[in-house]
Amino acid sequence: MTVAAPRTAANAYGWFDEEAREYVITRPDTPTPWINYLGEGRYGGIVSNTGGGFSFDRDPRNRRVTRYRYNGVPADQPGRYIYIRDQDTGEFWSPTWQPVRRPLDAYECRHGMGYTRIRGSLGGVEAQVLYFVPPAGADEACPCEIWALRIVNTGPSTRRLRTFTYVEFSFGDAVSDQQNLDWSQHIVSSRFEHNAILAGTRFRAETSWFASGEPPLGYTGDREAFVGRGRDLANPIVVVTGEPTNQGSPRGNSVGSLCHEIVLEPGEDRELTFALGVTDEPVLIPGVMARYDDRHEAQQAFDALRADWDAYLGRFTVETPDADTNAMLNVWNQVQCRTTLYWSRFVSGYESGLGRGMGTRDCAQDTLGTMHTVPGQAAQALERTWAVQFADGHAWHLYFPLTGEGGPGLAAERPEWPQWFSDDHLWLVIATCAYLRESGDTAFLDRAVPFDDGGTGTVFEHMLRAIAFTLAHRGPHGLPRIGFSDWDDTLNVDHGSGLAESVWCAMQFCRALLDLADLCEHLGRTEDAARFRDRKAEMAAIVDACAWDGAWYARAFDDEGRPVGVAGETHHEVNLIPQAWSVIGEVASRDRALLAMATVDARLDTPFGLAALDPPYDGFELRVGGTSTYPPGAKENGGIFCHANAWAIVAAAALGRGDDAYRYYRQVLPLARTDADCFLTEPYVYAQNICGPTHPQFGMARNAWLTGTAAWTYVAATQWILGIRPTHRGLLVAPAIPVSWPGFRAHREFRGVAYEIQARRDGPGDEVVLRVDGMPVDGTVIPLPAPGTRHVAVDVVIR
Ligand code: GLC
Repeated sequence: MTVAAPRTAANAYGWFDEEAREYVITRPDTPTPWINYLGEGRYGGIVSNTGGGFSFDRDPRNRRVTRYRYNGVPADQPGRYIYIRDQDTGEFWSPTWQPVRRPLDAYECRHGMGYTRIRGSLGGVEAQVLYFVPPAGADEACPCEIWALRIVNTGPSTRRLRTFTYVEFSFGDAVSDQQNLDWSQHIVSSRFEHNAILAGTRFRAETSWFASGEPPLGYTGDREAFVGRGRDLANPIVVVTGEPTNQGSPRGNSVGSLCHEIVLEPGEDRELTFALGVTDEPVLIPGVMARYDDRHEAQQAFDALRADWDAYLGRFTVETPDADTNAMLNVWNQVQCRTTLYWSRFVSGYESGLGRGMGTRDCAQDTLGTMHTVPGQAAQALERTWAVQFADGHAWHLYFPLTGEGGPGLAAERPEWPQWFSDDHLWLVIATCAYLRESGDTAFLDRAVPFDDGGTGTVFEHMLRAIAFTLAHRGPHGLPRIGFSDWDDTLNVDHGSGLAESVWCAMQFCRALLDLADLCEHLGRTEDAARFRDRKAEMAAIVDACAWDGAWYARAFDDEGRPVGVAGETHHEVNLIPQAWSVIGEVASRDRALLAMATVDARLDTPFGLAALDPPYDGFELRVGGTSTYPPGAKENGGIFCHANAWAIVAAAALGRGDDAYRYYRQVLPLARTDADCFLTEPYVYAQNICGPTHPQFGMARNAWLTGTAAWTYVAATQWILGIRPTHRGLLVAPAIPVSWPGFRAHREFRGVAYEIQARRDGPGDEVVLRVDGMPVDGTVIPLPAPGTRHVAVDVVIR
């Protein structure tokens, strides 16, 4: 079988470079800032295609390094800037276009894995800056990011240039930096030492710094002195005059602006290395700087970063007939999965890094997209998240990574409503079972993890408490009480009665019970397994008895026991997620499941994805709370909530409907959207939501990068469409590919063994015949190979 995929399609602002695995942006004026992440989950930050963004160390709220003005005008400022000034003409510009925004002769931004390179040229000078964070290890006590600048004189005459950098320091506590202006502006000051500007306070060791390898000609440490009165970052007085102030900032707003003079003959080039970081031991800065100024060491650090990402991406690669699918699965979807593993919903172009912390349900689901390649990091995230569970089994809704402090999140706004969420703790069960299937690391279950309110239990005990909490908190029908909400934060149907129930959560509970039963069987705990299967059967029967509405499942029951999401309602007759989860939770009979999914198609499908519900609310209704605060077609109120679309893909594939699964997948695939002026957000990563058909901006995406869509579309595509699923007993291969695909190839590492999978279609059905290393295998699970086996060849015929 040959898999010939055409190239991915370009849009008006960029294209995907398959060889380099970079997304190339060809114009600076993208519809929204198209961002990337620097760093690997510790020191790092976000960087846009015009250099906008900010940095922090481990926690954007509690250890912020630089500032960013969200939703400001001009958009996407400040950032990591370089001004280039011609000393003969006084003209100046920025190779990242911002903040001067002078039209450039040429511009290109390349977002890669953990790095971004922006190149601009004007009037015979070309400048390129590469931003990256050296991988963790070497500079633990003084973490930093590198800016490697290279300037070339491409013109015919000698050029005398000055460069000026610009970063705006934040007080480490980013909330105080913005809210307690009198205090924060009195305490932060900056000074110049060892080729660096250092910003900090007198009462904390924490020092942010910006340094250059080569001694600068001068420096400016104060924002107001740099910008000048009546000016802004497009025409700051220091750059207009070409004269740095050579003064730090006694208080107020500290900036890192270093000035270098460069004289370039025609054809000559020059490199300058800058670093930005934070440390509690400023004595380390000169050493760190000396190291990265050595071109060889800087290159080595960059090579190490690339090697780490190559290894990360290399454990699962696919070749399908769809180039967009290949690009997403081999590169950007996996990059996004790692980013969500690191940052949950905490920091992005939409999430300011001030409030949300790490979501419990979010972190648990995010591990699903990374456990095949960084199982250790996924296990760490699970362990850290289990630690916010209470002894009664429910969990905090979120926590802050640096302090471990937990919180109820949104629920705090309505103290009279339940302060817990019905799904948080159950996601941890589901993700932990998935981790065990992937890794076989049964010792993980014995790890001792504290409960947030005291005491300690093994991971296995934590799982049992999660199940016990749901069993103990059930409503009048016997379904799980919804609490403040379930997965849908905006579905708030319990206003203090303690009676409202979630049908969807019952289905999620069924999945958790089945996963746990499967695990217990594998561990030889047969009684536990039987008990969990019984509980699951009871719950599924309750759902089937009270929530089936003729052609689909209801979504929830309110305070008064009235169903939500059923026929005859003016708003919200049909909701997407209980239909998909009736399959995922193995609740529905095949007939009901097919009918429920047919309803999804008939009522919710659009060319840009499946709407979350229909018809949307048209004004606030206390009965459902948050959902109805959105206009029709936005977010959970009938918008296309991409995360939930992934569940429909899983459901369709699980029903053997490969064509439907693939159609749902393509509809929300960002690289497939070439209408960038409608879509608006980055075409290389999933956005959380797309405006639905009842919204005036139907098709417009919002909230790119940090969404459970990343992990779940990855799971949906790899485990369900391609059908490559880890089980306790071995790797299962049961594709549900579209009829039009002749097949696909995949390289999948599983428990240290490389599986080379070749799948070929030999008929329109979904029957699968496997041969492993040339030998026929019964069923769809490839038994775990003998110890020492490195490669397994898997031949799959689908007919
Ligand atoms: C947001 C939240 C997530 C929630 C979803 C649906 O993406 O981060 O936790 O499940 O919205 O409301």
